[in-house]
Parts: sequence; structure tokens; C-alpha cells
Amino acid sequence: MTDFKLTETDRLLMTTKQVRKRLDLTKEVPIKTVLECIEVASRAPIGGNAQVNRWMLVNDPQTKEALADLYRREGTAYLENGKKQVEELGGDATQRAVVDSSLYLLDHLHEVPMMIIPIRNDRPGTSVFDQATFWGSVTPGVWSLQLALRARGIGSAWTTLHLYHENEASNLLGIPESVTQIALLPTAYYTGEKFHPAKRRPAEEITYLNRWKQTPTN
Ligand SMILES: Cc1cc2nc3c(=O)[nH]c(=O)nc-3n(C[C@H](O)[C@H](O)[C@H](O)COP(=O)(O)O)c2cc1C
Repeated sequence: MTDFKLTETDRLLMTTKQVRKRLDLTKEVPIKTVLECIEVASRAPIGGNAQVNRWMLVNDPQTKEALADLYRREGTAYLENGKKQVEELGGDATQRAVVDSSLYLLDHLHEVPMMIIPIRNDRPGTSVFDQATFWGSVTPGVWSLQLALRARGIGSAWTTLHLYHENEASNLLGIPESVTQIALLPTAYYTGEKFHPAKRRPAEEITYLNRWKQTPTN
């Protein structure tokens, strides 16, 4: 046994959703609170314990507008196409909701009080080992940040569509070419209290024991 309250830790882990429609666009997100969350997120594992991760906070209205324009440039066609596919293939309610809220975010991205851009201070290599080490050393911290924000009433959404224009975004932010942006998290206090656990397939269906496709038995 540990002194963790499992109901609370599991609730945090299972109900930290990608928040788009429920971002409160009217309320400022204090930099102090985000720094507190980054302090927490910095405890995530990093290959070789290399201190390569950085964070860019953007709350300047013009810069947010410019980043949102970059996001929309490819994002509009990408998401409209996604919507068409879901409709044609008769996607389920969850798929429809994701497309619907993604399109909502597309329209409102420039209005979010804060954008958070996780960064690695280098560029990825090409082998699977290099890639696994590169992305695996930065994404756990981003998820930890989302959890720490959520525990403070702040929602965020993992997005990558602005990276179709990574160079332009880097130029805007004065980020050198030797550095990699990982994502762009629109960040705001969320509205409402409750989040339902994200819908996912049961663990037994996606877990194998000792051999590919061998179902684990208790
Ligand atoms: C690597 C990655 C990239 C994503 N990029 C975008 C994006 O550009 N725009 C967007 O609206 N959502 C993006 N998402 C969110 C997913 O589309 C999806 O909504 C989410 O993972 C499911 O949300 P849930 O956990 O709240 O169920 C991304 C998620 C991940 C992990």
C-alpha cells in the first residue's frame, strides 16, 4: 500500500482530456501558475537525463494571432477532410465530437489566453532508436504538464497542426533552426466541473502476455 489516494490519482489521469470547447477564453492564465506546473512536469523521465527540454509561453495577442494563422493554413483543409471522412464512413459519436471540437478550436485558437509550446533544444535523428529517444524524452513531460494544469483547473489541448509550418513559427518566436517544437497547447481555465473518462478500448484487448496477440490471464 502507498499513501496515494488511488481514487484521486486515477481520476486525474483518466479525466484529463484534450480541452477545446470548454476553454474559458476570458480569464487570464497566470505565468506563475504555469511555471509551477513546469516545475512539476520537469520531473518526467528524459533519456540520459539530458536537460534538453524547454518551454515557450505565448500570451502576446499578435503572436497568438500569427500562430493561429499558421495553424489554420493547413489545419482547415485537414480537419474539414477529417469531418468528411467521419461522415462518409459513419463515424461514431466520439469521432464526431473530436472533429467538431477540433473545428471549434481552429476558429478560436487566437483567443486563448496562453499558448504553451514544448521544445527540445536539438533535432531528431532518423533511426527508430534516435526517434524513440528523442520524442520519448519530451512527451512524458508534456503530459505531466497537462495533468498538473488540470489539477489547478486549467485545461489544455495537444495540437500539432501549426508544425506544418514549423520554420515560420520558429521565425516568429526567434527559435533557432537547431531546436525542435513538439506541439502547441492552447491553455485556459476550463469551464464546468466534471470531465468524463476518455473512451478507450479495455486493457485486456490491447495488452499481450509473453507473445504477440496472446491475451493476459489473471
Ligand atoms: C501527437 C498529437 C497531436 C495532436 N494534434 C492535434 C491537433 O493538431 N489539433 C487538435 O485539435 N487535436 C490534436 N490532438 C488531439 C487528438 O486529436 C484527440 O482529440 C485527443 O487525443 C483525444 O482526446 P481525449 O483524450 O480528450 O479523448 C493531438 C493529439 C496528439 C497526441
